[in-house]
Formats: sequence, structure tokens, C-alpha cells
Amino acid sequence: MLRRPRRNRKSEAIRNLVEETSLSVKDLIFPMFLIDGQRKKIEVSSMPGIYRFSIDEMLKEMEACVKLGIMSFDVFPAYPEELKDAVASESYNPDTFYLKALRAIKKEFPEVCLMSDVAMDPYSSDGHDGIVKDGKIINDETLEVLSRMALAQADAGVDIIGPSDMMDGRVGYIRSQLDEYGHQDVSIMSYTAKYASAFYGPFRDALDSAPKFGDKKTYQMNPANIQEAIIEADLDTEEGADFLMVKPALSYLDVIRVLDQEFPLPISAYNVSGEYSMVKAAVEKGWLENDRAVHEILLSIKRAGAKVILTYFAKEYAETWGR
Ligand code: PBG
Repeated sequence: MLRRPRRNRKSEAIRNLVEETSLSVKDLIFPMFLIDGQRKKIEVSSMPGIYRFSIDEMLKEMEACVKLGIMSFDVFPAYPEELKDAVASESYNPDTFYLKALRAIKKEFPEVCLMSDVAMDPYSSDGHDGIVKDGKIINDETLEVLSRMALAQADAGVDIIGPSDMMDGRVGYIRSQLDEYGHQDVSIMSYTAKYASAFYGPFRDALDSAPKFGDKKTYQMNPANIQEAIIEADLDTEEGADFLMVKPALSYLDVIRVLDQEFPLPISAYNVSGEYSMVKAAVEKGWLENDRAVHEILLSIKRAGAKVILTYFAKEYAETWGR
């Protein structure tokens, strides 16, 4: 035998030399859940190890994460039912606890990259990402709400806006509004290929944001489609996105791969709540080894072509595998 691939696997030193994909804490964005109030740290029942923090507790947690080398965070707010309405007005109230928290985070940690979420669902009495009229999600009127929300978040100091709503034309609309109001430096990480997925369940528990009727299939993508991801990526690129995101990650590694090959923008992938909870449930039963499973999952997403990974495993990865 002339060719013996095992020769390149014979020691750790050689395995390290031929390793094709490297993963680092620097690749990760840690999504965190914010609630109103003080001294609150409440575990999400369907996401063991993940908490809803009040701002004081969140700042402490971020400090610990920064010490571990995590430099990027995405903060999602959980709103009580009484602050929700049909047009998500709380989302651009400058005194709302989410925007105050974003300002506090940027003041405390000016060096971190802070990302925010743009979509109506946490603030909507209908639990949908857009305005609902006669049981339908209305696209163009929603753009106005989304851009007001994005402007309020940019005013609060975020570095990256993450439109997760999947309305048509929102990236271009938000980009032009940001520019008009002097926020040329605020980036957009578009949820480009966001699928109507079963894997968002635990996130909706964390935010109490499940839709009150129907599902999200008229705006989120059909899991059967990949051509459509290319259409979305084309549009987001033309409309000025800085990053293209694929979400969820694990069932869509092929989509990550294709977008990375076809588009010069950095690709990010959202390793979503259900993907986190599946691992934790199996580990709790003693069926999987946590640390190895986490490493392999994150590595696979990177290998598929993602430059950036949003993952609830960020802190534990940093603790276990270091910088
Ligand atoms: C809101 C939003 C969702 C997630 C991120 N932003 C849920 C949804 O679309 O219903 C899911 C994240 C996760 O499951 O971890 N538009």
C-alpha cells in the first residue's frame, strides 16, 4: 500500500498539524436573555444552564464571560404580557428596560461587540414577527416598525443589528434608515435563511413569545428549500447586509456550505435553543458526553463554512476549551 491515511493520524502532534478546521472562542457570539428588574437570575426550564437575567446580574455574567475571552453577545428581552400590543410600541420606547440595558452594557464594556434582535415577536400581543391584520402578517407596514426598533437600538449603542423577522425588503429599509439618522457604522447581521423550524421551542419558552395563533410559515422558510436561501442571500447582499446568517445550524449545514461558497460576505450560523436542549437532555440521561459532543457540534458548523457561531454553549465552551 502506497497510500496509508492512518500515518497522518498516528500522534496528537501530527493530528494537530493536519487539522483542517480550527475553532476559537473568538468565533462565538453568546445569546443571553434579559428580564426587567434587579437581582434576578432564573434558569430557563427547557434550557438547563441558561438563565434569564436582570441587568445587574447580566453585567456580572458578562464580566465572567469577557474574562474567558468571549467578546460578542446577543441580548434578547423577555417582556411581560401587559407591555405587549398589536404594533410592538414598547420596542422603540427609549425608556424601556431593554434599551436601557443595552446602554448600560455598552457603558460597562465598550470593547465588546453587542448585537440586538429586530423582530416584533417579544413585544407583540399576537406573538408574530410582523403586524397582523385579519389573520395575515402584513409585510410593508411592518418595515416601519422594524426600522423604528432598529434606530432605537442603534441609538442605544449596539454594534450589530440582527433582523430576525424575515419580512421582505427589511434589510434595505433598515440600512437606509440607519444611514439617514447617522448610524452608518452600525452593522446588519441578517437572518438570511431562517427556517420555520421545530427547534425554536425552548427560546419561545425563555421569552414567552410563542405565536398566539397559527405558525410562522408565511415568513420563515420551508425546511425543504435551499434555492430559496440563495435568493434571500442575493437580496440581503444587494440590500447592504454585512453578515448572512443561517438558522438553525445543524439541520442546515448544507445551506451554510452553499452560502459560504457563493457569497463573499462572512456567514454566521445560529446554533439554536432546541439544538442546545437536545444535547443537555441526552447528557442528563447519561447518553452523551457533554464536552465532546459540544466541541464536535461547534466544529461541524465551522467546517461547513460558518465564520461566526451564535451558541448557548459559548460560555461552557470557553470554560472547557479555553481561548
Ligand atoms: C425572534 C427570534 C427567534 C429566535 C431568534 N430570534 C424565534 C422565532 O423566530 O420564533 C430563535 C432562537 C433560538 O431558538 O435559539 N424572531
